[in-house]
Amino acid sequence: MRTLIKHVLKREQAADDLEVGGWVRTRRDSKAFSFLELNDGSCLANLQVIVDEGIPGHELVGRMATGASVQVRGRLIESPAAGQKWELQATEIRLVGAAAEDYPLQKKGHSQEFLRSIAHLRPRTNLYGAVFRTRSRMAYAIHRFFQERDFIYVHTPIITASDCEGAGEMFRVTTLADDKASRVAEDFFGKRAFLTVSGQLEGEAFACALSNIYTFGPTFRAENSNTSRHAAEFWMIEPEMAFCDLQGDMDLAEAMVKFLVTQMLENHDGDLEIFAKFVDKGLRERLEFVASRPFERVSYTEAVELLKASGEAFEYPVEYGLNLQSEHERWLTEKHFKCPVTVYNYPKEIKPFYMRLNDDGRTVTAMDVLVPGIGEIIGGSQREERLDVLLANFEKHGLSAETYGWYADLRKYGTVSHAGFGLGFERLLMFVTGMGNIRDVIPFARTPGHCEF
Ligand code: 4AD
Ligand code: MG
Repeated sequence: MRTLIKHVLKREQAADDLEVGGWVRTRRDSKAFSFLELNDGSCLANLQVIVDEGIPGHELVGRMATGASVQVRGRLIESPAAGQKWELQATEIRLVGAAAEDYPLQKKGHSQEFLRSIAHLRPRTNLYGAVFRTRSRMAYAIHRFFQERDFIYVHTPIITASDCEGAGEMFRVTTLADDKASRVAEDFFGKRAFLTVSGQLEGEAFACALSNIYTFGPTFRAENSNTSRHAAEFWMIEPEMAFCDLQGDMDLAEAMVKFLVTQMLENHDGDLEIFAKFVDKGLRERLEFVASRPFERVSYTEAVELLKASGEAFEYPVEYGLNLQSEHERWLTEKHFKCPVTVYNYPKEIKPFYMRLNDDGRTVTAMDVLVPGIGEIIGGSQREERLDVLLANFEKHGLSAETYGWYADLRKYGTVSHAGFGLGFERLLMFVTGMGNIRDVIPFARTPGHCEF
């Protein structure tokens, strides 16, 4: 039976007969034997394999070049080489699949841009192996965080007829032929349907029944922003809590970010080290700082005042009533507070219909969590639980009672104050790895003009 290299390298004792499989990173030949550096992606480190002349399979060692897949049986012995505890003395080796000579990962030090163009092969590099193992571990940590707090995982639909964020940035789902695109009644669902931008509205229905829920799934946005932080397809985590207000919402967001950062710091498999070494030298220090200190909290009004008084020459204007741009968010979190900041109570005009109106009549209970290096990673709010106010919002935003009637029902039957937020999974990954581009933390990125693989 095959043992993962991760477990081989962690062994306490030598072993007489182990079997491993993996891809050759490098090979060095000397007279009587060859050294193979083998990696199977289970961890960052390679296993060194010694292939003596004369063992079964040795005759093909010349074809076991970088990129080839091999299976090896052998004895695990203490390695005389520095920096590694074990090496595998092969007793039998098999070339499973040779790699053609044009294998693109021959040498180290390819640019991230180039590796994006071979996204099907980049998980075989040290850096991207680390990124995608981290992605998996963080997904697991998110489920742990919520499950340990009795949140119930809900699968909200991918195809929907509602535009949660009201920004009209939706991909249409249709089976109509091109020349019939306007005949909506004949379409598959008998109406216009789209890929969801958020599972929140459906999540609210479940929170108003199961109390504390979360979603974790893909979301889609057809916003044409070609930035390093936007993808057309990304994953979002959306908790929703009944009997909860904005304060409780901000507390949960902060606790979740801290938990995930702590999980990242407690990883001892070497992945964090590679980010700290090659991507972001200050990573560990920054994560430790975030895990150990309370986040700052400021109202939108205070944030605007700070920005105006900053004397900074921003590209976009700062004015009460305008959206905060990423440069403003980054100034607040990187230059001014130098730590994560939660900005709350935004003007109602710049926020979606579902946010609860504050008593001042001007602001809504919105909150965004901003972190250094990225800006917004979380957006959320307390929801409007008053039926009359919500119906007035439908009017103002031109939302039809037919499409959103079920959402109003949640207020008609046993309404309750409730709140939630959305964490962009890729933005979290950028934050905990230091990777600078969203395209490099998602296996196959979808961005304007790009739908390869
Ligand atoms: O702030 P947003 O738009 O909030 C919502 O969708 C709410 N319905 C969430 C809720 O209250 N349940 O998006 C939430 C987060 C953002 O803070 C950001 O991290 C991420 O989703 N996000 C994106 N990530 C990558 N690419 C994009 N195009 C993104 N748009 C939003
Ligand atoms: Mg937002």
